[in-house]
Amino acid sequence: MIFITIRTKYSNTFSAGRRYVPATVILGAQWGDEGKGKAIDQLAANSTWAVRFQGGNNAGHTVVYGDTTLKLHQIPSGISSQHCSMVLGDGMVIDPWVLEEELDRWYQLSGERPEGKRLFISERASVILPFHRLYDSADKVVGTTGRGIGPAYRDRIERVGIRFADINNIVDDVEYLQNTTKRMNGQLESVGVKPSIEWEKLQSDLKWILERYSDSIKPTGLMVDFALKNDENVLLEGAQGAMLDIDQGTYPYVTSSVTCRANATHGAGIHAGHVEQCFGITKAYTTRVGNGPFPSELSLEEGPGMHMAKVGNEFGTTTGRPRRTGWLDIVALKESNRLNGYSGLVLTKLDVLGGLDEIKICIGYEMEGKLLHMMPTTSVELAKCEPIYETHPGFEAMTETEWIEMANKSRVENIGFGALTQDMLNYVRRIEKLSGIPIVSIGVGPDRDASIASIGGPFDI
Ligand code: IMP
Repeated sequence: MIFITIRTKYSNTFSAGRRYVPATVILGAQWGDEGKGKAIDQLAANSTWAVRFQGGNNAGHTVVYGDTTLKLHQIPSGISSQHCSMVLGDGMVIDPWVLEEELDRWYQLSGERPEGKRLFISERASVILPFHRLYDSADKVVGTTGRGIGPAYRDRIERVGIRFADINNIVDDVEYLQNTTKRMNGQLESVGVKPSIEWEKLQSDLKWILERYSDSIKPTGLMVDFALKNDENVLLEGAQGAMLDIDQGTYPYVTSSVTCRANATHGAGIHAGHVEQCFGITKAYTTRVGNGPFPSELSLEEGPGMHMAKVGNEFGTTTGRPRRTGWLDIVALKESNRLNGYSGLVLTKLDVLGGLDEIKICIGYEMEGKLLHMMPTTSVELAKCEPIYETHPGFEAMTETEWIEMANKSRVENIGFGALTQDMLNYVRRIEKLSGIPIVSIGVGPDRDASIASIGGPFDI
């Protein structure tokens, strides 16, 4: 039997002979902050659902709405596509107060109140409470974002956390509330954090959450499953990046959730068989915030590391912390691909490298005289790894307008990466060869139009 697949810009996928309904996963392929927002926005235009499946407001992405850019932390990027429904999925930990701020900012900008209409909170998602933020403030090792993410996940694993579905059942249970605040205060005391939590305050917080969000708290896994069965396209939107995965990343300098493909469906409440494609987003170089080993790291004070930080405006969206910068690390990218099996790679911020005399790619590590092509398991060993580089000629700096012109030329003349200069193209092709992943789109500036898609690829729309 022959299956013919036709994709159009705003339609679902149809196939003669058999119908299948795809979910697409989009993930950070490095240590987060890869610039996922723009690619997610582009894919959301073809999706009717955008689902966050892990993490919380440790993430940050910028959404462009008209002439305004909005920084969001929990709301999926699909917000700016009016036809897109959004889910804060089962696998998330959600700060209801931060969500309210985000929703208010969206309302001021757009006049829309999506909650309960096209924005839904999973009943199974965990609530981040003031206790979690306070406890996280004691972190001195990992360099967390301080948003309470780890403590909220810890409560979940210990099976003492509060999920949105549970609030109704416990909100008037004084004994439960007293025992819970006793536990919380004991834990805060054990890490030297002073303010203690009153059970009455916990109760009023929970009542407020119910009041504010009761229309939005839903069995979202069922809703997404239904949408898929109804032939709709679902975008599963990852936060952070593969190297920050709790199981597979540079432990313990990682976040507290599974950031990889395997959790995309589970954290959304659907099965893995729905996923047809998975795209990884990587910068044309590397950045990292927080602590932990980073073999291809450069100095922020001088040279190319300073160039990347300045030109790439490398400051965290959530905390404003300066990001550490370094050359592209192919060892990490291959690790990331082993875990996620990328259908394609979106290479972001190629423009940032413009103006450097030469560009390096880390193609392996040397550790205590041994040559490594895979990452060692422990951060102690990774910290001992020296990068092995190959060097490529740089390309000249161009203005934002010149990059947009290059991207427009690619579109108008339908020449894909043929619009790039030879040095740029050589760099791009080398990354593909070394990583074994086809590059499907290249970001060359913050503007929506500053993207160059591969001909006939998923971003060639
Ligand atoms: P947490 O997720 O706040 O617990 O932080 C754990 C580690 O993950 C820290 O090194 C953070 O800087 C890092 N991290 C968490 N979220 C992000 C993100 O969205 N981008 C980049 N790094 C992140």
